[in-house]
Formats: sequence, structure tokens, C-alpha cells
Amino acid sequence: MILHYDHIDSTNRVAKGLIAEGTPNGTIVRAAMQSAGKGQYGRVFESPEGGLYFSLVFEPDLPLDQFPLITLATGLACLRLLKQQFFLSPRIKWPNDIYLAGKKVAGILCENVIKPGPGGPKATVIIGVGMNVNNQVGDFADEIQPLITTLFEHLHRRIDLDVLLTDLTQAIVDQMTRLKRERAAVLAEWQRDDLLKDRTVVYLRDSQSMTGIGLGVTDQGAYRIREDNGREHQVIGGQLRLSSG
Ligand code: BTN
Repeated sequence: MILHYDHIDSTNRVAKGLIAEGTPNGTIVRAAMQSAGKGQYGRVFESPEGGLYFSLVFEPDLPLDQFPLITLATGLACLRLLKQQFFLSPRIKWPNDIYLAGKKVAGILCENVIKPGPGGPKATVIIGVGMNVNNQVGDFADEIQPLITTLFEHLHRRIDLDVLLTDLTQAIVDQMTRLKRERAAVLAEWQRDDLLKDRTVVYLRDSQSMTGIGLGVTDQGAYRIREDNGREHQVIGGQLRLSSG
């Protein structure tokens, strides 16, 4: 089932309501524009007309401790699609941002919903993806314009959003199947386009920060950082940024 809205606040919010009503696995909520698209860390994800904004309701056949891998596998689906269909060279910034030539082109927000069921609690994931496609950088707020890009800027042509939605949701489902059967291969492929690998990164959490070198992801989806003193950390949650220094 695909629900299409011209203008709503957030497809993730609508998907959450549908899950409460028992919507089936695979439901897609899509919007041409969002007025309050949800981003990571409680930020608003700007969603002007021309982008692809959708939420896929997905019931993973994975243990809960592997749910962070769903964000990574979704990112990998985006990377593959941008490479295979448009011959672009995207990179991924842990855990959820897709970059083209140093600027963000897409973001992913996965939210878990746990409901009681007859056989115990049942977890559903809302896989929310926002991609800047046919929009122009000038359509976004001034302060984020230097940080973002769109497919149009790279391809100089418009993309059919219906076809892109079909292809991307299929690519996501394919990666979820792969995650179950060949997790190491999924993570190895993810690491090939890791934007932070071998770069100086800053990790921020609860007003604390730590600087180190990016080392890649663990097999549970955490990110590894090595501080100057040689101590290694595995981080999950919080924000990871490239150091500007
Ligand atoms: C991020 O970059 O911080 C994550 C952005 C995720 C945005 C998408 S757009 C479709 C879906 N609905 C939302 O409200 N958010 C996600």
C-alpha cells in the first residue's frame, strides 16, 4: 500500500499512526513536501517540493540488537542506487547521511515502534528517507545551502520521482534480505564508501566531545574511533562530524 500526500508535516509521523492501526508490513507513506520533516537529533529536515520523501513500514526479521544495522543497510541501498543508475560517486557519513562531492544529498531516519503481541513484543521499524532530487539548492534555507546538494545539480536533468521511489524501496528491501543472510558482506560494502574513515572526526554526546581518527563500523553498527592517546572507542548514538581543523 502506498499513501501519497501532497503536503503533510512528516511521513514518519503518519507511518507511526498507521502502525498503531495495524497497517501491513511494506506500507509506504510518501509526500511531495513536508512542513516538519523529522531529522536526526530532533532537527527539522527541510523538504521543499522536488525531493523524494517517504517512510517504509518494515518488520525486520532481526534481533533487536541488530536494528542499528537497518540504518546502515538503507544507506547502502541509497549508495548503490546512486552509483548504478546515475553513475555518481556518493559517500556515506555514519550513520545516516549520503554525500555527493562533500555535500549532503540525502538523510535517513529509522524509528522503532515496539507493540505487544500474542507471542511477545513485536518490533516494527519506520525507515524514513529524504533525498534532494529535482529541487535546487536555492529552494533551501540560506544557512544550509552551503552544506547540501541535489541530484539535479549533478545530473542537470529531472528524475521521475515515482520510478525513483519504486527502485529505492526495492533496493532497501534487497539490502534487508542481504543483512539477514550476509551481514559481513553488507558491512564490507558499506565501509568502501565511508566518508569518515581515516579522517579526523569529532564525536559529540551530551555536551561532551572527543576527537579521534575514524576507523569504520563494528559488526553491530557502532562506529570506531581512535583517540590520539591510542585509546579506541565504539560509539552509538550521538553525533559524529568531520573535524574542521
Ligand atoms: C537526517 O538527515 O537527519 C534524517 C532525515 C530523514 C528525513 C526523512 S524525509 C521522509 C521521512 N519523514 C520524516 O519526517 N523524516 C524522514
